[in-house]
Amino acid sequence: MSGVEDVDFFTDSAVVANPYSYFDELRAQCPVRAVKHPGVIAVTGYDEAVEVYADSTAFSSCNAVSGPFPGLPVQADGDDISELIEQYRHQLPMSDLLVNLDEPAHHAQRALLRRLLTPSRLKTNEATMWRLADSYIDRFIETGTFEVMSDYAKPFSLLVIADLLGVPEDDREEFGAKLGAEKPAPGVGEDTQAVSNNPLEFLHERFTTYIEERRRRPRADVLTDLANVTYKGGSTPEVDVIVGLATFLFAAGQDTTARLITSAMWILAENPDIQQRLREDRKRIPVFLEETLRFESPTMSDFRLTRVTTTIAGQRIPAGTTVMIHPGAANRDPRKFTDPETFQLDRDNAVEHIAFGRGAHSCPGGPLARTEGRVSIERFLDRMTDIRVSETTHGPAPSRTYEYEPSFILRGLRGLQIDFTPVD
Ligand code: HEM
Repeated sequence: MSGVEDVDFFTDSAVVANPYSYFDELRAQCPVRAVKHPGVIAVTGYDEAVEVYADSTAFSSCNAVSGPFPGLPVQADGDDISELIEQYRHQLPMSDLLVNLDEPAHHAQRALLRRLLTPSRLKTNEATMWRLADSYIDRFIETGTFEVMSDYAKPFSLLVIADLLGVPEDDREEFGAKLGAEKPAPGVGEDTQAVSNNPLEFLHERFTTYIEERRRRPRADVLTDLANVTYKGGSTPEVDVIVGLATFLFAAGQDTTARLITSAMWILAENPDIQQRLREDRKRIPVFLEETLRFESPTMSDFRLTRVTTTIAGQRIPAGTTVMIHPGAANRDPRKFTDPETFQLDRDNAVEHIAFGRGAHSCPGGPLARTEGRVSIERFLDRMTDIRVSETTHGPAPSRTYEYEPSFILRGLRGLQIDFTPVD
């Protein structure tokens, strides 16, 4: 890789394969540093990332997902562009999503979400996870090999969210097929093919029907609770707000969690000693998952738009600058995590990673993702011994070949073929 000033982070394939040396070089020069793309600064330091996440006065989330593409349609001018942001935020991509809202709109919708993800709902959802995990493992257990992403992690994490939101059992297979998590079973989804081939459109149409129908004719089910959820003051949200929240849970919770599960399997398969220690002491699974989240953070980049000229780590950040936070870089900051390039099951501060962000927008799905990871690892260890990377697919150690998702938003393997010995 050439010097950091020459690297176009958004397009460079070497960064996709290994962003960490690029992040290290940036951080060594300055944890808050301008990158090649005009008007963008990267935050690679831990304290600095936490500071940006915590300051929703100086930094707007209006571009949290889209970053500089395309950015505001007008040139920012002056040290406070609050009015400009309000004037143009609706022109930015996905502007209605919770993650792109600022206060007070964000607070109101976030409170709605809290009323949906109740402890009792999460408890029932965990019971489904154990059944789901086994139903997917049953499909390949006798073969002694599986591709983690497509045979397990993607369909599993999709159906966990479908269950959380109360999608009726009869519709779930179709959700899997329509949302690209698995190949459709014969006949499944054929009737809706004409409605839409776009996964987000499919979700939007389906949830609009569910919510409108439940508002007309309430039943004793989770979708009825979803349809009747109210704002704090007691008013009822528009159907579109609820549909938007439900749809976004699929978008935010599936790929990220699938990557966590896949990275966890990769670490287990490449490190028989760690696998053995987890087999001997299952109570370590939660800390193993925290260290996995630190070591391979699924979110590669998260953005903010500087609303008011401010200073972070002694660097002046003019209003209008796109700030690009890299949780995976912050999680390997040697000032915070000793010897960050090594995976340490006993790391005492692994849980302080910021893979789930921080502050007002920090991930509300963290507990869910952690439970999905724990349930999956428990069942993999129960039902498989000698979990190892397939040499047929990835080659022998230490010169394996792995392909990473070509994305600057998410970090993770495209696929991971695992071989194992089934437990009788
Ligand atoms: C390992 C898995 C996951 C990772 C690494 C992850 C990461 C993140 C991060 C970094 C943010 C902060 C975005 C920002 O500040 O701009 C976030 C927000 C969010 N996540 Fe997750 N997430 C995961 C799983 C989930 C799951 C399972 C769900 C729900 C089913 C979920 C729902 C959300 C929502 C709704 C937000 C927006 C919150 C807000 O703006 O207030 N996530 N996630």
